[in-house]
Amino acid sequence: MKLGIYVAIAENGVIGREGGLPWRLSTDLKRFKADTMGKPIVVGRKTWESFPRRPLPGRLNIVVTRDKTFRAEGAEVVGSLADAIALATARARCMSGVDEICLVGGGEIYRDALPLADRLHVTHVLAEVDGDTRFPEIDPEIWQVVSSLDVPAGEKDSHATRYTVYERRADVH
Ligand SMILES: NC(=O)c1ccc[n+]([C@@H]2O[C@H](COP(=O)([O-])OP(=O)(O)OC[C@H]3O[C@@H](n4cnc5c(N)ncnc54)[C@H](OP(=O)(O)O)[C@@H]3O)[C@@H](O)[C@H]2O)c1
Repeated sequence: MKLGIYVAIAENGVIGREGGLPWRLSTDLKRFKADTMGKPIVVGRKTWESFPRRPLPGRLNIVVTRDKTFRAEGAEVVGSLADAIALATARARCMSGVDEICLVGGGEIYRDALPLADRLHVTHVLAEVDGDTRFPEIDPEIWQVVSSLDVPAGEKDSHATRYTVYERRADVH
């Protein structure tokens, strides 16, 4: 099972502001939905609470929290990232054609997940954006670009983007 991070990152590393996203990227959300559909997604409690519609439909939603009393309707709740990955792996093995667990944020989850991930699906937002949550540096000695696509801003997009997939170089952890 591959571990894939899905994230949109501004040129200055920003991924979030005041608990939400500091941009509107409708084209990218459609691509995100298509790429993650049918797969387990792992999400931090704060990002879960930021979703306008919960759970994300058509995907097994797994929420990570240290709060043992936390309940999330329509999702599984676990107490650590390791538990989330174990649960997602067990469930994904029973789903035909699923070869990836999707780690979908936010900042705290990404920080812990980056050393474990096999693949990064990064929407580079082609602007510097104000915010309070950042993604760590993507080290080119660890991550190689396997595909990249420039996406001009559509009518419902605040920015142009570049959608880049990175894979971990063999044996670099
Ligand atoms: N640009 C993007 O692609 C993208 C994607 C997703 C989110 N975001 C943005 O990122 C921001 C949220 O990120 P964030 O870092 O503040 O929060 P987060 O990672 O979404 O959630 C943090 C919470 O998750 C739980 N958690 C995290 N690591 C844990 C661990 N190892 N064990 C147990 N529980 C753990 C804790 O919940 P408890 O406090 O309940 O214990 C923690 O407070 C928002 O602005 C959001 O919009 C951006």
